[in-house]
Amino acid sequence: MMSQNPTDNVTPAGGEVVLVDDICRTYRMGEVEVPALRGVSISLNRGDFLVVTGRNGSGKSTLLHQLGLLDSPDSGSIRINGVDVTALREKERARMRLHDLGYIFQEFALIAELTAIENVMLPAMMLERTSECRERARELLAEVELERQLDHLPRQLSGGEQQKVAIARALINDPEVLFADEPTANLDTVSAAEVLEIFRSLNRDKGHTIVMVTHEMEETVCGNRLLTLSDGKIVHEE
Ligand SMILES: Nc1ncnc2c1ncn2[C@@H]1O[C@H](COP(=O)(O)OP(=O)(O)OP(=O)(O)O)[C@@H](O)[C@H]1O
Ligand SMILES: [Mg+2]
Repeated sequence: MMSQNPTDNVTPAGGEVVLVDDICRTYRMGEVEVPALRGVSISLNRGDFLVVTGRNGSGKSTLLHQLGLLDSPDSGSIRINGVDVTALREKERARMRLHDLGYIFQEFALIAELTAIENVMLPAMMLERTSECRERARELLAEVELERQLDHLPRQLSGGEQQKVAIARALINDPEVLFADEPTANLDTVSAAEVLEIFRSLNRDKGHTIVMVTHEMEETVCGNRLLTLSDGKIVHEE
């Protein structure tokens, strides 16, 4: 039986926020099949900071997309907060994406026509949380030291500043899990270090659960868990 709001009344068995069992994902392009994930299992507890690494094409982004409900596996199961998300209808998956998950991408993905504060408010407005969201957006932007750039358009911000806006936007609905796909790849070293420090602090001081994909060896020490993918399989875990 599926309840109206499947996330509201389920208690996870062992406190796992994310429980992935043996997922596979093959992309099909005409005759060609690309097996991007070949049997991956993960268990993440609340407050974990998982770093996913591996070569180009090893399946990192594909894995993040499965966990973040941006795509679905061909087989295997994914439970988030005890809910089997592979069994949910698209409308419920969309609700979970907006309500429970936050995303930060390499290329920032801000809306060019909206100011910094409007970009941050947007996910809250989609949940009709309009009354307090401007104040909350202002607070979040202040936490990433952008209180003076609230009304800047993305093109009036540096790359590092744009990524900080994207982080604030990912936090506006107070998500259960934050997903970041190579969040520092387009940044200079100083901005990259600032963005990483924000992630560390979100995890350590605020208890956010984070899954971050990175190429950079020196970034693999950021989390408390590390997973290396190769050809769609976990080849190393610590
Ligand atoms: N939408 C798609 N359609 C077809 N093939 C895809 C698609 N997305 C990814 N692939 C293929 O699946 C494999 C895994 O891709 P994925 O993007 O997950 O790798 P990645 O580890 O994130 O690589 P990178 O480090 O370059 O970002 C690659 O061989 C890629 O070419
Ligand atoms: Mg990728």
